[in-house]
Amino acid sequence: MCGIIGYAGHRPAVPVIIEGLRRLEYRGYDSAGVAFVQNKELNIVRAEGKLANLETKLESINVTMATSGIGHTRWATHGVPVERNAHPHCCQDGSLAIIHNGIIENYQQLKAELLEKGYEFRSETDTEVCANLIAECLRSTGSLDTAISMALQRAEGAYAIVVCDSRNPGTLYAARQSSPLVMGIGQGENFLASDIPAFLPYTRDVVFLEDGEMVRIDANSWSVMNVKDLSPVEKQVHHITWDVQAAQKGGYKHFMLKEIFEQPRVISDCLTGRMDWKQRTVTLPELEQAAIPSRLHIVACGTSFHAGLWGKQLLEQWAGVPVSVEIASEFRYRQPIMQQGEAVLVISQSGETADTLAGLRLAKEQGLPVIGLCNVVGSSIAREADTVVYTQAGPEISVASTKAMTSQMTALALLALYWGIRKGVLPDETRRAAVDGLEKLPGQLESELPRMREEAKRLAREYSSARSFFFLGRGLSYPLALEGALKLKEISYIHAEGYAAGEMKHGPIALIDPEFPTFAVAPADDLYPKVKSNLQEVQARSGRIIALVHPGADLAVDSPWVMAEAWGPLSSFLALPALQLFSYEAADYLGKDVDQPRNLAKSVTVE
Ligand code: F6R
Repeated sequence: MCGIIGYAGHRPAVPVIIEGLRRLEYRGYDSAGVAFVQNKELNIVRAEGKLANLETKLESINVTMATSGIGHTRWATHGVPVERNAHPHCCQDGSLAIIHNGIIENYQQLKAELLEKGYEFRSETDTEVCANLIAECLRSTGSLDTAISMALQRAEGAYAIVVCDSRNPGTLYAARQSSPLVMGIGQGENFLASDIPAFLPYTRDVVFLEDGEMVRIDANSWSVMNVKDLSPVEKQVHHITWDVQAAQKGGYKHFMLKEIFEQPRVISDCLTGRMDWKQRTVTLPELEQAAIPSRLHIVACGTSFHAGLWGKQLLEQWAGVPVSVEIASEFRYRQPIMQQGEAVLVISQSGETADTLAGLRLAKEQGLPVIGLCNVVGSSIAREADTVVYTQAGPEISVASTKAMTSQMTALALLALYWGIRKGVLPDETRRAAVDGLEKLPGQLESELPRMREEAKRLAREYSSARSFFFLGRGLSYPLALEGALKLKEISYIHAEGYAAGEMKHGPIALIDPEFPTFAVAPADDLYPKVKSNLQEVQARSGRIIALVHPGADLAVDSPWVMAEAWGPLSSFLALPALQLFSYEAADYLGKDVDQPRNLAKSVTVE
């Protein structure tokens, strides 16, 4: 869950590393640190809190001499978030510094062995154990690559590490197992990082490292080997085309707001190459060779899980494919019944979510084909899935996911249409209406967003003193209600629960009083009359209500929020941004750290 970067080149390393860390801060941010060798001495500078604290510390140190080094932003997994637990960590004699993303699960056992050998520890981290384990192996082999290989064969769990040796500072070693690590290939400089934006201003040539691989870089060369036997591994260099501007705020106050406003483009980009506008049909070239499953198991976490719940309804309705949707952290520890002819669809924006990746591996072990619905190209899930459908949403920086869900819903709608057409079960009329609706959708959303924001701002001010909220919906609006509640709680810290509106009377309605408002998603679909009576039950208990409705709705609630209509299920694409904007405006009004909410990280690479 941390961000790591290593640099070996011809520039002063520390500014390059700090700049890279800034672009990785979304991965976690409770402390940060750098290590570099100057005048033959290993310097480690670390600070608790955000990167700015580390920069303040570095101001008083001359760091211009080092042309290689490593840096880290941490999201605590072991040990409290204080400076002594911040990375880099070094081994006892101070010769090796290491940064690490992941968890070494057997670190207590390894630590006990090292303590017996006389090692002392200054932190509570698994990373310091790893540094001393490598140092101990180095004592017996004399060569650092062999020592790292020996140490990592004893380590169980997930890691991406980078090691810097004060005796040979221009050379860095790195390895990965179940944690992201990429290499950037420059001119007279090479980079290692958890994610591409870290080095994008310097190079677009990237090598994706796989589990069990180790790499050695210096300014002018790089090589990849198998971590077990150090045998060479051939790698392909990929050229990345998106630019670093895409990962910047572009004039918006927060990344979240920028990403909400990007959604019209995200929908068009996701449709690109998949619509035959002339024939009014859908093609998913990625899935042409794959059979249509007899049942689909969707596995995902958080917002991606909500997208899966939404997609299930269309896949069943349009393609006649039975779908189960499960939270990955539950799926992976059950013994799900998966049968021949079925398939698994894992949904993940980052492509690195540990539980989702584990669900993918479980499905593969049982011989089921896995389709990945991912945003990050070259991510672990994208690489391990049998087939990948990319959502093509561009980098999502804000911790709270917004445009990713819109892109996932777009892709799921396409999948439902595509399989429905291929199976011959989708009525022509539905196909044509859906294609027409999708064609109009980006333009419609684009013109609605500014007005939606104004309404969201007004309502957020009126309701932001609430301590708790219900979000209600039925049918396709139920996953939207779950998502509305997740967004509000994660960025504004207002307690919020998402419920299927029909469930209210089975318990939750007991909580309703004038201080406990409800946000209902009540479009003019077949279930509208049912939602309407659920809301009347809330009103009968003096509960205040905001309701997202379509023009002409006969709901007499405190705050009707009339949204524009789209064809059938596509109305969800206009309701979701309203929910996102409401949470955004509430959090901003309450002065919260919108893009980096407390206790959260963008990419959840630990279980
Ligand atoms: C909420 C949020 C998380 C993610 C979840 C899965 O705003 O961002 O709930 O949706 O951690 O992440 P991915 O999609 O990267 O697997």
